[in-house]
Amino acid sequence: MTIKEIFDSMAYGPAPESNAEALAWLAKHKAGFGHFINGAFTAPEAPFETRNPANGAVLATVSQGSEATVARAVAAAARAFPKWSATPGPQRARVLYALARLVQKHSRLFAVLETMDNGKPIRESRDIDIPLVARHFYYHAGLAQLLESERPGMQPLGVCAAVIPWNFPLLMLAWKVAPALAAGNTVVLKPAEYTPLTALLFAEISREAGLPKGVLNIVTGDGETGAALVAHPGVAKVAFTGSTMVGQRIREATAGQGKALTLELGGKSPYIVFDDADLDSAVEGLVDAIWFNQGQVCCAGSRLLVQEGVADRFHAKLKRRMDGLRLGDPLDKCIDMGAIADPVQLETITRLVDGSEGQIYRAATPVPQGCFYPPTLITGLTTSSPLMQEEIFGPVLVSMTFRTPAEAVELANNTRFGLAASVWTENVNLALDMAPKLKAGVVWVNATNLFDAAAGFGGVRESGFGREGGWEGLAAYQKPARSARTLKPLAAFPEPASPEVPAMDRTAKLFIGGKQARPDGGYSRAVWSPKGRLLGHVGLGNRKDIRNAVEAAHAARGWGKATGHNRAQILYYLAENLSARGAEFAARLRDLTGKPGEAEVETTITRLFTWAAWADKYEGAAKPVPMRGIALALHEPVGVIGALCPDEAPLLGLVSLMGPAIAMGNTCVLVPSDPFPLAATDFYQVLETSDVPAGVVNIVTGAPDELAKALASHRDVDALWSFAAAPLSAMIERESAGNLKRTWVNNGLARDWRTAEGEGREFLARATEVKTVWVPYGE
Ligand code: NAI
Repeated sequence: MTIKEIFDSMAYGPAPESNAEALAWLAKHKAGFGHFINGAFTAPEAPFETRNPANGAVLATVSQGSEATVARAVAAAARAFPKWSATPGPQRARVLYALARLVQKHSRLFAVLETMDNGKPIRESRDIDIPLVARHFYYHAGLAQLLESERPGMQPLGVCAAVIPWNFPLLMLAWKVAPALAAGNTVVLKPAEYTPLTALLFAEISREAGLPKGVLNIVTGDGETGAALVAHPGVAKVAFTGSTMVGQRIREATAGQGKALTLELGGKSPYIVFDDADLDSAVEGLVDAIWFNQGQVCCAGSRLLVQEGVADRFHAKLKRRMDGLRLGDPLDKCIDMGAIADPVQLETITRLVDGSEGQIYRAATPVPQGCFYPPTLITGLTTSSPLMQEEIFGPVLVSMTFRTPAEAVELANNTRFGLAASVWTENVNLALDMAPKLKAGVVWVNATNLFDAAAGFGGVRESGFGREGGWEGLAAYQKPARSARTLKPLAAFPEPASPEVPAMDRTAKLFIGGKQARPDGGYSRAVWSPKGRLLGHVGLGNRKDIRNAVEAAHAARGWGKATGHNRAQILYYLAENLSARGAEFAARLRDLTGKPGEAEVETTITRLFTWAAWADKYEGAAKPVPMRGIALALHEPVGVIGALCPDEAPLLGLVSLMGPAIAMGNTCVLVPSDPFPLAATDFYQVLETSDVPAGVVNIVTGAPDELAKALASHRDVDALWSFAAAPLSAMIERESAGNLKRTWVNNGLARDWRTAEGEGREFLARATEVKTVWVPYGE
């Protein structure tokens, strides 16, 4: 090419980043990598190759971890746990700080290796992935420093299993390892089979940071290795990022094992452009939303919703920009898009796009041979088209138009996912009105794909649960320090040989949608006092009654929009009305349980006051993220919460679950104490006289196992809590995998409802989701 030609075309020449250092590191390990267990690399076993997707070259051989390998790694982590967890936070902070420093020191090697193993442009690994990794360790060094004073009474969980995907290999490692170590846990991490190399390099340098042996272990392998790891009984917590399908499998595989679980899964995130948006900025944003990392991003803005009036103009600008995107050698600093992570992934994308009924626009940019796919736009789809609903996980954008903000919200939320959303408008009122209405864990206003260690990241619905980043992310690696007492089941008092039956039989109904309702099956059972007196009958609800109750709870979701002040007033009113009938409830409790009821009534009234107090005080936060602008952490209600109330403390237990649920704006379906249900049915009258809107609290009596199953498998129940004595935890967690509802189960452990164990921040966190709203501002 002559100089004149270069000036005419203004084409970029290649500017490759050197891979010499990375090749030298790989050469050092040409015998193949073993696993990193107890501070040392094992001999290689069952080797498989990891390749550079951009040119197919074999980079290294790594080991396929067996069940026995996993067991060895978990044992090493368990041995290291007592000492590491007892290490003072500030000392752990030093190690995390050293890790951050070492990541920075080796940042070039990490970036090049990541790009070679994954195919992402060096520009991204160098400027985004690796700096965010370092930031994550710095930030969590700070959390470790402060955690003992800021989160008293909390303790680490034990051995944490981390299973991570291939799209951000080292960053996902940092997201799991940094909070786990900061909180005093030990870790066994399994990187994705396509991209294990940066994790192995990290293992190597972690020794320099003074990380004690066994605190971090890395076992490589595929899904089978991952499955063996999450199922291992020595694991106390599983943190997973990957596909929704595997997330559901992990939910099922760990059901009833008492393991803490966080899942960061797929998405189909909307990218909403209003007609008053700065369209050029919105186009640039879209490049970052869907062509960043070749679209292999869980929160990729993969669903464009553009307001009708500007749609043609926007699409024209977008196509022009797509045509100019440069695909090529990921190590070339001038390219915009690199290679797809693996031929299997390329095949999936090709199949999905080729099978689409929409109009397909493929960018007119040269596509190199190999694992590359051009930027693609698909229009003309309907809301139910598979590509509008399913995650493609590639550089493919689908687009639809809308007319009004309300329609934008409806389209945006028409998905089973709920990871992220972007809103583009110059109208701050509109942006801030949209943010709370979007079903997503993260909302970016006039921005996209912003991440920071201080800001929580994670989804709602089938995008999973739990947050990563910030104090809220750390919380997922801790539990309240409490002695573990086994819960003793309580049996209902039996019918005596010569029953004392009062003249008038009273059958308590169910309470659904603000009305007392006869159970669908028409069955009831007798409730006896310890002395053999018939106290009444209680309705036996079934699956149909649960369906009705959930429907009523859904219809009442406007409660979530009531102000905290308003909700507080109603909780105070409940307390007042219960207090007015205190003696009656105390007598009822005595009749039911044979024990004096005064103290329980008194504590219940106090608890209602406590939840009234919290209703307008569980504040969010403005996160100090490193940009001009703020990231707001908003507490939102989870939605419809089902709850199986404790058998013991029949009134206090019910109110202890109802209180936080409704204080935070949720609606609920409560299954009262099985042996002593009549305190709950008496409580209807208090609900009826206290201005609680119909459907906010629904109560269904009956057999806990049957009702729990109906709630756990119901797709419109967002969370299910179980404190019943019946052994329901395993079933609930397994059944909940369908819609990935949030579960909170007792695993057969007791809680003293009279004390602080029956209230507090743990309940607040369970009754809310954190939504992070990023609002950059300024010129
Ligand atoms: P995947 O979900 O199968 O793999 C993620 C990780 O889980 C890997 O380390 C894998 O070895 C492990 N794994 C697989 N099966 C497992 C099991 N039964 N138990 C425990 N661990 C298991 O994701 P994959 O196959 O790499 O990609 C498939 C699709 O998943 C993509 O096309 C994309 O749609 C989605 N995906 C979403 C990600 C996200 O960040 N949300 C990341 C990666 C993939």
